[in-house]
Amino acid sequence: MWVSLETIVAWAKRRWFAYPGSDIYGGLANARDLGPYGTELKKNIEDNRRKYFVQEREDIIWIDSQILMNPKVREASGHVGGFSDPLIDCKKCKSRERADKLIEEYLHKNKTKETELPKHRAGEKTPAEDMMDFINAKKIKCPKCWTCDWTDPKKFNLMFKTQQGVIEGEWTDIYLRPETAQGIFVNFKNILDTMRVRIPFGIAQVGKAFRNEITPGNFMFRVREFYQMEIEYFVENDEKVWLKAFKEWMETSKKRWIDEIGIKKDKLKFREHDKEELSFYSKGTFDVEYEFPRGWGELQWIAYRTDYDLKQHIEHSGKDLQYSDPHTGKRYVPHVIEPSWGLTRAILTAMIDAYDEEKYTDGNGAEQTRVVARFHKNIAPVKFAIIPLVKKDEKMVRIAKEIHKRLSKTYMCEFDDSGNIGKSYRRQDEIGTPYCITVDHQSIDPKDWTVTLRMRDDMKQIRIKPEDIKF
Ligand code: GAP
Repeated sequence: MWVSLETIVAWAKRRWFAYPGSDIYGGLANARDLGPYGTELKKNIEDNRRKYFVQEREDIIWIDSQILMNPKVREASGHVGGFSDPLIDCKKCKSRERADKLIEEYLHKNKTKETELPKHRAGEKTPAEDMMDFINAKKIKCPKCWTCDWTDPKKFNLMFKTQQGVIEGEWTDIYLRPETAQGIFVNFKNILDTMRVRIPFGIAQVGKAFRNEITPGNFMFRVREFYQMEIEYFVENDEKVWLKAFKEWMETSKKRWIDEIGIKKDKLKFREHDKEELSFYSKGTFDVEYEFPRGWGELQWIAYRTDYDLKQHIEHSGKDLQYSDPHTGKRYVPHVIEPSWGLTRAILTAMIDAYDEEKYTDGNGAEQTRVVARFHKNIAPVKFAIIPLVKKDEKMVRIAKEIHKRLSKTYMCEFDDSGNIGKSYRRQDEIGTPYCITVDHQSIDPKDWTVTLRMRDDMKQIRIKPEDIKF
C-alpha cells in the first residue's frame, strides 16, 4: 500500500522505532534517536549484511576505523576542497537555498531535459556560476517568498569541523568523517601487511558519518548524522576485470535488498549517474533507488572509483600502497568498486516497505482495521511474543516464562502478560513480530501441553508443542 511519510513518522514514535532527538528540549532539527525497536531493526539489517558479505564470503574482511582522522586524510580525499554545495540567499526573505536543488525541482516540474545543466557536487566541471546563470535566465523563484532576487552563490562545505586538543590556541581543526570509506583506504596497507589477502578482495565497515546537509528532511532520509555500510572492493587495473566486478556488485546489491531485507521488487530500480552528476573520481556510478512516499530516492550507490583514492593517499602520505601479485610479481595500485549502503536509509526503507493497514472481521463479526508491519522475519525487531492468556493463572505464567527463557537465548522475544489477548496481538502486529505464542487452557492440561502459535501475516493459528517451534 502507499503510505504517507507522516503516517510512518507517527507510527515510528508510537511504537518506539524512532523519536525526535533531544525531545525534552524541543528537539534538534532533523535529528532522530532510535528507540528499542528501531535499534533492533538496525542491528538486524547490519547483522544480515555482515553475515552475507563477510561471514559467508572468503574475500571480504571487516574493520572499524575512527570517526576523527588526521585532517590530511580529508585533504587527500578531496573533501576539504570539493565536498560542498552551492548556496544562494534570497535577498528579500533571507531564505537560504541550494542552487542545484532549485534547478532540479525546476526541471522536474517543467519536465525539461536540459543536459547542459550542472548538477550537485559535480566538481570543477560545473561551477556554481553556471547554475546562477540558469536560475536567473529561467527566473527561478524563491520557494518561500516567490521573488527572484538571489545573492551570488557561496560554496558551503558539508563537513562538520571541530577542534582537537586541550590547550586553547593549540587546537587543531579536525573533521567528523563525511563517509566511512576513507577509513578503509588509509588501512589498506595495514591489511596488506597483516592479513593474507589476495586481490580481488574487499574491506567493509559500518559506522556513523556526518554531513552538515543544507536541506535535511524527509524524516530519516536526509539527516546530518547517519549510518553507512561501505565496502571497498579492490580489483586489478584491467577494464574487463573491473567491469565484471561492477556487474556482479550490481546484481548482488539488488538481490540482497529483496532477499534479506524483504524490500518489494517493484519499488527498487537502478539509475545511472549521467556525465554531470558523476563524481570527478568515478568512471561509472549507479544508484539503487527506492520509491519513497515523496518520490524515488537513493538507497545505495555502486561506484567505480578507479585508483583515485589510493593514489591520492600515496601522494599525500608518501607511503607505498601498491599491491604485489604473488604469482606474477606485478606491482600496481588496485582499482576499486564501492558499494555504499545507507544504513539509516535502510531502516527507513524497511519501515515504509513493511507498513500495512488491513481490514478484517473480528470474532464478533465486526469489521476492524489492523496496522501490521510485514517485516521480513530476518529483520523483524522481535521474533516471538510469548503471552499467557490469563495473567493471574500461575501455571500459564510459569509455562510462558519457561518458553520465553528458552527461546530468548537465541531470539529477541517479548513476554507480554497484559491479560488482553486481542490487544497483545494488535501490538505485536504493529511492531512486526512474526509469531505469537499463547499459553492457554490446553497448554496447562497434562494430556495436551500444546500452545497456540499465531502467524502475523495471515493471523492463522495452529496448535503446536512448544519444543517443536522453529523459526
Ligand atoms: N562513499 C561514497 C558515499 O558516501 P554517497 O552516495 O554520498 O556515497 C552513500 O552516500 C549512501 O549514504 C547513500 O546511498 C545514502 O543511502 C546514504 N546517505 C548519504 N547522505 C545521507 C544523509 N544525509 N542522510 C542519510 N543517509 C545518507
